[in-house]
Amino acid sequence: MGASPSRLRRLALALAAVATGVAIGAAFHLLDFPAGPRVGGPFSLVDHDGRRVTEASYRGRALAVFFGFTHCPDVCPATLARMAELLDALGPDAERLQPLFVTVDPARDTPAALRDYVAHFSPRIVGLSGSDAEIAAMAKAWRAYYRAQGPARGGQDYLVDHSAFVYVMDAQGRFVGTFGPDASLEAALRLVRRAL
Ligand code: NI
Repeated sequence: MGASPSRLRRLALALAAVATGVAIGAAFHLLDFPAGPRVGGPFSLVDHDGRRVTEASYRGRALAVFFGFTHCPDVCPATLARMAELLDALGPDAERLQPLFVTVDPARDTPAALRDYVAHFSPRIVGLSGSDAEIAAMAKAWRAYYRAQGPARGGQDYLVDHSAFVYVMDAQGRFVGTFGPDASLEAALRLVRRAL
C-alpha cells in the first residue's frame, strides 16, 4: 500500500515546517555570532619557563592575548600594567583568565627575559616566545601586525612596531573581542567578563 495523497501532503507540510525551523535557527545563530574575520587558532610556542605550549595547554580558561616586546618603551608596559589591574579587579574570577604576552621580538626576548619582564607586572601573566616562523604563524592567525625597525647590522638597540590590541578569547577558543591601550579598566573588565 502506498501513502495516500493526503498523507503525502501532510508529510510535505511537516518537512517544510522543519526546514523553516532550521532556517530560523540558522538566522538566530548568525545573530549570536556576527560574521567577521576569524581570529585565533592553534599555536605552538615556548612559555617563559621553557616549556612547549599550545592552545590546548590553556584549554578551559579564557585567554587575553597581547603581542609585544620587552624593550617596548610605552604601549607594552602600559598594557601589561592595565592587565595587572584587570586581574586584581576580577578577584577570584582571575583564575579563569590566562593572560599571554607573546613576543614579536624573539631575538632578544628569550623565555628567561620574558619571565623577568612579566614578573614586574603580575605573576599570572605568561610570556611566550618561539621561532620567527612560530610567532609569525600565531600573529597571522590573530590578525596582529608587527614589523621590526632593525636590528641594523646586528645591533641590539631597535624598536618593533606592533598592533596594540588585547585579544580576548573564551574558554572554547572563540574570539570575544579586543580592547586597546586607551580602553578604560571598566570597558576591559566588561569584555573579559563576557569571555568568562
Ligand atoms: Ni609594545
